[in-house]
Amino acid sequence: MTPNQAKKLYIETVGCQMNVLDSELVVGSLRRQGYVLTSEETDADVILFNTCSVRQHAEDKIYSALGRLRRHKRSHPETLIGVLGCMAQKDQELIRRRAPHVDIVCGTGQLARLPELIDEVRRTGKPTMALSLDRTESRHEVEASFESYDPLRDPSMRPSPFQASVRIMIGCDKFCTYCIVPSVRGPEQSRPPAHIAAEVRQLAAEGCKEITLLGQTVNSYKHQAGDGRQYRLGDLLALIHDTQGIERIKFITNFPRDMSDDLLDAVRDLPRVSKYLHVPAQSGCNDVLRRMKRLYTVEFYRDMLARSRDKVPGVAISSDFIVGFPGESEESFQRTCDLVRDAGFKNSYIFKYSPRPGTKGHEMFADDIPEEVKRRRNNDLLAVQNQRSQEDNRRFQGQRVRVLVEGPSKTALKSDSPGPRQLTGRSCTDHIVVFDGNERRTGRMIEVDIEETSALTLFGRVVTEERIGGDVAAASVRESRVSLPVVI
Ligand code: 5AD
Ligand code: SF4
Repeated sequence: MTPNQAKKLYIETVGCQMNVLDSELVVGSLRRQGYVLTSEETDADVILFNTCSVRQHAEDKIYSALGRLRRHKRSHPETLIGVLGCMAQKDQELIRRRAPHVDIVCGTGQLARLPELIDEVRRTGKPTMALSLDRTESRHEVEASFESYDPLRDPSMRPSPFQASVRIMIGCDKFCTYCIVPSVRGPEQSRPPAHIAAEVRQLAAEGCKEITLLGQTVNSYKHQAGDGRQYRLGDLLALIHDTQGIERIKFITNFPRDMSDDLLDAVRDLPRVSKYLHVPAQSGCNDVLRRMKRLYTVEFYRDMLARSRDKVPGVAISSDFIVGFPGESEESFQRTCDLVRDAGFKNSYIFKYSPRPGTKGHEMFADDIPEEVKRRRNNDLLAVQNQRSQEDNRRFQGQRVRVLVEGPSKTALKSDSPGPRQLTGRSCTDHIVVFDGNERRTGRMIEVDIEETSALTLFGRVVTEERIGGDVAAASVRESRVSLPVVI
């Protein structure tokens, strides 16, 4: 590589939105070092995998990608390979053993150090490792280790220039028995509201319209400000709500027990907050919930749903479920199906239980549900959910919804037929809406009359251009683009 030739970076991300955001930050920091992104791993000077440990399948994918690169590394020893994130944090020794050609193992919370780690490997010719402090360190030390975590952003890595995620907390203290997150992401800590507000202002100034606040249990957010005032998620939503240029605010993922009335009031009263809650139930059977250590009963969960709907009329709610948790009988599973039938979730993400070494569940329970039973339950529960979503979505027929346009729909991208493009966007209840329109509407708030619906999508027609209020807002955002200092 000649000195004035740009260094090439290839990065692959597995897992949740938290990981997607981490990758955005990594790319941001390496771009500042002169790297450019490439989509060809074999063309790259540095190959990074940002990993997930929530299910075995996600780990298998990474090991097979590393296996494929073994020969490439032999013929290109100067190419650096790094494993980042949750799997790096959890399995540093195993990665070394299974993939000795990996140069960098970098855990969650240490990603800001990557440029330095790359330099170190280039200088010494030896592999290196950086891991976050573990849960035995003091809260203050862990907090300090995460302090440099969020300032580096790369707008071009965002899902779109007008959408961004903002981390409001890290870690988790809930310790559900199946879940590896608390051990790889560390203890729960909430970022100061002033830092979050500054980041939102910065993003708005860059043209961002939609902010998604991220946390493993986002509604457990709690921060004591210097003046002694306690900020909860509802207070934070109010604090950032009027940021000039921001049109929509979402937050994921919620813990059922922490769905407080004041948060629901904030969702109802703040017009730019999506009327949408993702609140994973995981199971509809008390026996399973107890063994999962979810800290609530199905009765509590059903009450929480009723309270949410009562407080926030029209709110859409989605959920996660794990099928085939140890000891889940056919009857237990049917209780989960009953919950899905009754609850009216917008959609559910359904996962087959994957035993995770290092969790209480793995220690205490045998993985006793055969794979084919897990698969069948997964399909059956999905069918119940789809049936319900299909019925519920019919209520949108003939309604007018406000949509933030995200761009061409995936099917439109595939077709090369002439005529108007099919665009896609989301309503304020987070429903996917598809309609014909011009791509220049991307990033704008428009109104769509819904004509047809399916289980996953609302199809409609754009209301005439003159009536689209969002365009005016879009113009004012463009004019107000200024470069603010990053405060964090
Ligand atoms: N096996 C299967 N699914 C899991 N999840 C978390 N841990 C596991 C596991 N060990 C699911 C939960 C969670 C979602 C992000 O992943 O449903 O809400
Ligand atoms: Fe995992 Fe439970 Fe924490 Fe969610 S609340 S991240 S499932 S331990």
